[in-house]
Amino acid sequence: MNDHTSSRSGGFRKSKAALFGSIAVMTILAACSVNYQAYFRPPQIPGASFMGVQSCEECHEEIVSGFDSATHAKLLADGNHAVNMGCEACHGPGSIHNDSGGEIGTIHNPQADPDTCYQCHLDVKGSFALAHAHPIGDQITCNDCHDPHYGSAIKGGGVASMREGETCVQCHQAQAGPFVFEHEATRDGCTTCHTPHGSPSEKMLKTSNQMLCLQCHFQQQTAPDVILIGGRNHASFVSRGTCWTAGCHESVHGSHVNSSLRY
Ligand code: HEC
Ligand code: HEC
Ligand code: HEC
Ligand code: HEC
Ligand code: HEC
Ligand code: HEC
Ligand code: HEC
Repeated sequence: MNDHTSSRSGGFRKSKAALFGSIAVMTILAACSVNYQAYFRPPQIPGASFMGVQSCEECHEEIVSGFDSATHAKLLADGNHAVNMGCEACHGPGSIHNDSGGEIGTIHNPQADPDTCYQCHLDVKGSFALAHAHPIGDQITCNDCHDPHYGSAIKGGGVASMREGETCVQCHQAQAGPFVFEHEATRDGCTTCHTPHGSPSEKMLKTSNQMLCLQCHFQQQTAPDVILIGGRNHASFVSRGTCWTAGCHESVHGSHVNSSLRY
């Protein structure tokens, strides 16, 4: 990463240690900037050079035609010899692969390897290192929830909660119901309450206290010593634990027996 990035860090005149720090920061900032310029090092393939998206079209027509809509289609290489390197940002330079007629093993296939993504999304690596996180690797990969080739990289488009929920439900059927007494909160998507990558809180919750529920169930309080939630005084309940661990609303995703989300 050294040669590649330091050539762009021209203005910086700091100690070497500080410089390395700023390179890491710059990489992230660049990856988040609106013009989609990313400074990074794509996978290396000895002896191969970059060919551009068009060179893949002949043999991977379906992927290339869908790729126009992809977030990652906007990634460009930097410098005088810039080509639109979209595919090769993740797959590495393609000349040897192209010349071989597409032989397996001549180009990088990220599959279950998250390092290809961490080149530009270093912050995400941090999330997966938190105490309660999805076990990225064999059991679950970035591609289970993200599509690198079409449209928004977030399957279901992030805001389309039903479809985002479907992404989670591939593996977590129990939480999706159908329930006799549905909890409307799940309609807003699983990420209303859970972080998708990882969290310091148990069960990958966004917060491990009442605030998780009060984001929707907050009620204007009318008298001291009374804690109204759902029209009922909860003052003696809230000291017992969280809404879901105090023995009251254990069935937080939905219930088959009780409209107050109990078992
Ligand atoms: C953001 C990273 C990224 C970009 C950009 C990208 N790919 Fe991929 N590609 C992947 C990942 C990750 C996989 C592995 C998917 C899997 O195993 O489910 C993959 C798999 C593939 C495969 C293997 C066949 C398959 O479906 O398993 C082909 C072929 C392919 N990509 C072609 C392309 C082409 C052509 C482009 C450009 C139009 C492109 N990719 C752009 C990340 C990317
Ligand atoms: C001359 C045809 C041809 C061209 C050009 C071509 N590919 Fe392929 N590619 C193939 C074939 C054939 C396979 C094997 C596909 C299979 O078995 O599903 C393949 C496989 C792949 C794989 C999976 C490799 C593996 O080892 O698992 C990736 C990734 C890939 N291509 C990306 C690209 C990218 C990116 C480009 C453009 C830079 C490109 N291909 C250009 C024919 C081609
Ligand atoms: C070459 C750098 C680069 C690589 C490699 C890369 N990304 Fe990205 N990714 C970006 C940039 C730049 C954006 C746009 C950021 C923005 O909009 O703020 C982005 C956006 C995203 C988004 C948000 C998409 C959206 O539509 O809002 C997801 C999810 C994502 N990438 C996942 C991945 C995954 C998974 C991989 C590995 C298969 C990967 N990325 C590899 C640079 C990269
Ligand atoms: C369990 C499903 C899941 C897995 C696995 C997953 N993601 Fe995500 N990711 C999401 C969801 C859902 C969002 C949208 C976040 C939101 O709506 O709060 C997201 C958002 C993102 C974003 C954009 C926002 C941000 O946090 O920067 C990036 C980049 C990203 N993911 C990269 C990755 C990478 C890289 C991997 C693999 C190392 C990965 N994700 C694995 C579900 C997942
Ligand atoms: C490809 C399968 C897969 C997908 C898709 C998936 N998960 Fe997971 N999830 C797992 C695995 C594996 C674990 C860890 C093993 C376990 O505790 O069950 C896990 C654990 C969890 C946990 C913590 C469970 C605990 O007991 O601590 C939560 C919460 C969770 N996932 C929510 C989600 C959400 C939200 C989504 C969608 C954004 C999602 N998952 C998508 C496989 C998946
Ligand atoms: C209203 C907030 C909320 C929503 C929305 C939500 N969850 Fe949860 N989820 C929780 C809480 C709270 C727990 C912890 C329950 C416990 O500790 O008993 C939990 C626990 C889990 C667990 C761990 C196993 C278990 O049941 O204890 C998984 C897996 C999970 N949720 C997946 C999902 C999926 C998938 C979705 C979307 C369909 C979803 N959650 C939507 C609040 C929510
Ligand atoms: C995204 C918003 C949202 C979040 C977050 C949320 N809820 Fe709900 N909840 C609703 C909606 C909407 C209803 C149905 C309307 C109503 O009764 O207020 C509901 C209904 C309920 C009910 C049934 C009330 C009844 O008896 O009819 C209970 C119990 C409940 N929620 C508990 C919780 C708990 C516990 C949490 C935190 C783990 C939580 N909710 C988080 C939106 C939310």
